[in-house]
Amino acid sequence: MTVKSNRDNPAASSGTSKKSGADSPAARSGSNTMWGGRFAGGPAEIMERINASIDFDRRLYAEDIEGSLAHAAMLVRQGIIRQEDGAAIERGLRQIHREIEAGTFVFSRALEDIHMNVEARLKEIIGAPAGRLHTARSRNDQVALDFRLWVRRAVEGLEVELKDLTAALLDLAEPHAGTIMPGYTHLQPAQPVTFGHHLMAYVEMIQRDRGRLVDCRRRMNENPLGAAALAGTSFPIDRDQTSKALGFDRPMANSLDAVSDRDYALEYLAAGSILAVHLSRLAEEIVLWTSDGFRFVRLSDAFSTGSSIMPQKRNPDAAELVRGKTGRIIGALQALLIMMKGLPLTYGKDMQEDKEPTFEATDSLALCVAAMTGMVRDMTPDAAAMARATRNGHLTATDLADGLVRMLGLPFREAHEITGRIVRLADEKGAALWDLPLSALQSVEPRITAELQNVLSVESSVASRTSFGGTAPETVRQAIARARERYL
Ligand code: ARG
Repeated sequence: MTVKSNRDNPAASSGTSKKSGADSPAARSGSNTMWGGRFAGGPAEIMERINASIDFDRRLYAEDIEGSLAHAAMLVRQGIIRQEDGAAIERGLRQIHREIEAGTFVFSRALEDIHMNVEARLKEIIGAPAGRLHTARSRNDQVALDFRLWVRRAVEGLEVELKDLTAALLDLAEPHAGTIMPGYTHLQPAQPVTFGHHLMAYVEMIQRDRGRLVDCRRRMNENPLGAAALAGTSFPIDRDQTSKALGFDRPMANSLDAVSDRDYALEYLAAGSILAVHLSRLAEEIVLWTSDGFRFVRLSDAFSTGSSIMPQKRNPDAAELVRGKTGRIIGALQALLIMMKGLPLTYGKDMQEDKEPTFEATDSLALCVAAMTGMVRDMTPDAAAMARATRNGHLTATDLADGLVRMLGLPFREAHEITGRIVRLADEKGAALWDLPLSALQSVEPRITAELQNVLSVESSVASRTSFGGTAPETVRQAIARARERYL
């Protein structure tokens, strides 16, 4: 029953032929073959242009055919159409699928959308029985089904792509579980952390994204087919049969809801938008890290671009584009939310506008995830540059304050005050905290010992952060091992 989709088939998205459909009887009389019965005249040119969705919804061809095959098989089993007609319909639909994949199918704008393009061609191939396929079905439940199947595949595909990104992040984090860099708040040096720990933050973010996709797939996995136009049908259909054939958990419980629901696309785009924000934040860090002020990582020639005027430049364009495309993805979510918000039940043609933003966001998401995976696999961290950066900003001031509490039993507020005075002293001398001689520390607080002075190195600082989820190299190694087990 399932039909393989070839979404990237260029033939399936080639230009619409103007001449196609022009020789059909209805087209000759000017009205539509599929619903032209009560119409005497054809549409205005502008009507056809605003109404037609075939230029973009042809991307639903595999789902449309898959849904029709399941519907026709059910109609046969329920005795609603004859076995021979069902067989002819199946044969014709499979031929159409091959034609579209091969790029020989001629799409017609006069036939509005993918549903009517397929049905019209079916009639050309098998003749009269084609007219029986649409029994107990409407384009409303048909498009609800096709789009849901398409989004379901997009969700599944994205989740797999995120698994690749997770593996890339883990592979980079592992050898750098102990590579020390400054951790920042407000983009001001805060406390030393390890590069591996920093990357593992993104691993966690990406797992939440995957969780949102899995969750959204679970909720969307109900079958709208059988709702017909909006009210259900008087034919003795079996919605459990089509649900099973199409991999749904169950039929949707309410026919009005079935044709008017687009929550699945909204949830997918919401999850995609949050993911895009995560990718954008990492992209921004890559832009910073590759800049001259940081030099924490280097991207190879494969992921850098040059300037047409400044020969010395190496620009992180891919990271900037990941950051930049986030706007479109969030825009797609906004477009759908706003399109849906005032619609009375059930279907409204406004809902045809759900597809282009969803398709475009899907393409952008795939591109961004792949580019990010590529950059993560490509980048070479510069541990020496990170170590140099840890010399600025008195990153271990908190360790000194904590040490004063732990070793001398001071209240934290007092320890904070003493440490602040020592930081000022270091600044006056133009020295790092750990370069101050013990005598200088003792000039501020006489009870400071050599043992206490040891907490000032960045190495001992990170090594001490052994709390669960902390940045101690050993703790990070354990987190990576756990993540490999749970996430890959
Ligand atoms: N092309 C339409 C869409 O994408 C298909 C459904 C049309 N239904 C209708 N009643 N006109 O929404």
